[in-house]
Amino acid sequence: TRKLILDLDTGIDDALAIAYALGSPEAELIGITTTYGNVLVEDSARNCLAVLDLLGAPHVPVYPGLPHALARDGFEVLEISAFIHGRNGLGDAALTPSPRAVEGTSAVDFIIEASRAHGEDLVYVPTGPLTNLAASLKKDPGLAERLTVVLMGGALTVSGNVSPWSEANISQDPEAADAVLRSGVSATMVGLDVTLRTLLTYEHTRRWRELGTAAGDFLADMTDYYIRAYETTAPGLGGCGLHDPLAVGVAVDPSLVTMLPINLAVDLEGPTRGRTIGDVERLSAPRTSRAAVAVDAERFLTEFMSRVTALARTR
Ligand code: BDR
Ligand code: CA
Repeated sequence: TRKLILDLDTGIDDALAIAYALGSPEAELIGITTTYGNVLVEDSARNCLAVLDLLGAPHVPVYPGLPHALARDGFEVLEISAFIHGRNGLGDAALTPSPRAVEGTSAVDFIIEASRAHGEDLVYVPTGPLTNLAASLKKDPGLAERLTVVLMGGALTVSGNVSPWSEANISQDPEAADAVLRSGVSATMVGLDVTLRTLLTYEHTRRWRELGTAAGDFLADMTDYYIRAYETTAPGLGGCGLHDPLAVGVAVDPSLVTMLPINLAVDLEGPTRGRTIGDVERLSAPRTSRAAVAVDAERFLTEFMSRVTALARTR
């Protein structure tokens, strides 16, 4: 089985990504590293631990990540993030706190150790800013040759969601994202190009509520909040984007998307800061990254719903 590490700023769709990973028999979730973005890094840890407990995975370790972007000295949650994900990051849905704490090993050291232990079997799935991964590559440059990355972030063929050019995860730490994409690490970008085509609606959450389980109620409450927020921020879209779960989906089954091989970089200056774009300096170099540009949304949604619903039925 494939080993997965998720790097999460949990976050409603990050929590749904945990559920999808746990419900996927092809993959073993060997750990979660935490990052900031939708919430503070310590709140991401609190949410990850509580969601793991609720979903019957209290054995999955959570490793503390870096609290802010490489080039900054602090981080504050944006108003828009608090609006979309709720004050607690989970749509203000009620959740029993976990008695567990994060591990003593840092996210950076865990990523490096796990890549040495599992080599090609490991897929690292960041669904927040790329700060932890950039710091790991800095500490261990050999990591770029060992690691396979499937990341949620960026926008290549559509506009951004925090500016016309920039997507939220990349915009939090453009320097980190640029360093990752230019490092030569094998990276698959699952950006807004595809994640805004995989939408969840009240029709779907109703199925979770009908389970009558604690997990079903929690997933439905949290996701209904997210759908309501999307009705305000993206009226007419018709649901909420399954951004982070789709990255897990692609990590488990790459055939869900069509990929464009392209060496990517990130604009760091001017109004387009945070934009993911083809790297003109590496046009004829071997391609180490690829961008998902089309998705079999129907197949993904069917898989997502059947896996997450089966998991929530027993909890
Ligand atoms: C990304 O930003 C966050 O709000 C979501 O969790 C997702 O990872 C979408 O742009
Ligand atoms: Ca996220």
